[in-house]
Amino acid sequence: MTDEIINWGVIGTGRIADSVSQAINYTDGAKLLAVASRNMSTAMEFADKHDIPRAYQGYEELCKDKDIDIVYIATPTSCHYENAMMCLEHGKNVLCEKSVTADSRQLSQIIGLAKEKDLFFMEAMWMKCLPSFRQALSWAKLGKIGNIRMIKADFSNIVQFDPKDRLFDKQLGASALLDLGVYPITLFEAFLGNTPSAVRSSLFVGRAGTDSDGQVTLEYENGAFAVTVFGYDIENNNNAVIVGDKGRIVFGDWFFCSGEVALYDDMAQLVEKKSFPHLCNGYEYEIMEACRCLHEGRKESWLVPLSDTEAVMDIMEKVLEQNGL
Ligand SMILES: NC(=O)c1ccc[n+]([C@@H]2O[C@H](COP(=O)([O-])OP(=O)(O)OC[C@H]3O[C@@H](n4cnc5c(N)ncnc54)[C@H](OP(=O)(O)O)[C@@H]3O)[C@@H](O)[C@H]2O)c1
Repeated sequence: MTDEIINWGVIGTGRIADSVSQAINYTDGAKLLAVASRNMSTAMEFADKHDIPRAYQGYEELCKDKDIDIVYIATPTSCHYENAMMCLEHGKNVLCEKSVTADSRQLSQIIGLAKEKDLFFMEAMWMKCLPSFRQALSWAKLGKIGNIRMIKADFSNIVQFDPKDRLFDKQLGASALLDLGVYPITLFEAFLGNTPSAVRSSLFVGRAGTDSDGQVTLEYENGAFAVTVFGYDIENNNNAVIVGDKGRIVFGDWFFCSGEVALYDDMAQLVEKKSFPHLCNGYEYEIMEACRCLHEGRKESWLVPLSDTEAVMDIMEKVLEQNGL
C-alpha cells in the first residue's frame, strides 16, 4: 500500500459519519469508496451527498467489498464490538469510533483479533491526532512546565432529552462517561501515564437510566491529580489546563477539538501561543494518521496506541463499577 490511494468504507450514516466523510473526501491519498447503512435508501442518500461511488444495504456487504482497505465504524457504542469483529473477520483494517467498547473484555477481544489477523486497528480518538494536542504533549515532554501537578479538563453541555437519540438510549450504550468523559480521561492518560493510584468518581443517572453527568478524579503516586466534570445536563466551559511546577498549558475552548494551545510560565506570563486552524473539520488528522500507518505497514498508531485505549477503558470500567453501572 506504499503509494496507493487508501480506499475507505464508512458504516453508519449518522452525525459523525457525516463529519468524517467530509474529512476523508478532503484528505489527499484517501478515497471514500463506499458507505453502508441498515437501509438502502439511507445509504444511497448519504452516498449522493458525499459523492461516494458505492452504497450498500447492510454493513457486512461493505466488508465483502475487496477494494475497501479500511472501515470507519460510525455506529453507536453498543454496536462497535460486533461491527469491529465483523470487519476484522473480513480482513478489513479498522478505525473505530470512541469509546470503542463499554468494557475492557470486549476491547481486548477486538485488539486480540486485530493482532491475530495482522490488521490495523485504532480508536478514532481524533483529539490525539490534532496538532494542538501534539504541541501540548511536546511542550510537556520537553519539560516546559516542569513536573505536572494537576490537570483539569471539563466537557459538558446541555443536550435536550430525546429518548430516541443514542445519547439517551441505554440499548445503544448511552453514557456521558463513555461519550464525553472519555476525552478528559484520555488527556489525563496521555500526560500523566497509564496507571493512577486511585480513581474516585460519582456518576449521576438521568431520565434515560444511564449516567448523564459525572465527575472523575484520578490520583497518581507522585502526588499529581486530574479532575474532570462532564455531562449533558450542565452548561459549563469546556476548557483544559495542565499545570506543572514551572508553568501551565492551556487549550482553547472545546479543548478536545481546539486548534489553539498556549504555554505560560510559573508567573502566569504567556510564553508562546500556537494556532493550528483545522484544514477541513479536524477529523482529517485522524484520517491522515490511519493512512500513514497503512502506507508504512503499521498495525497500530503511535499517536493513539492500543495500550492507551486499553488504559482509558480500564479507568472508565472502574468508574462504572464504582457507581453500580
Ligand atoms: N469523534 C467525535 O467527535 C464524535 C462525535 C459524535 C459521536 N461520536 C461517536 O460516534 C458514534 C456514533 O455517534 P453519532 O452521534 O454519529 O450517532 P448517530 O447520529 O445516532 O448515528 C449512528 C448511526 O449508526 C447506525 N446504527 C446502527 N445500528 C443502530 C441502532 N441500533 N440504532 C441507531 N443507529 C444505528 C445508523 O446508521 P444507519 O441507519 O445508516 O445504519 C446511525 O445513523 C458513537 O460511538 C459516538 O460516541 C464521535
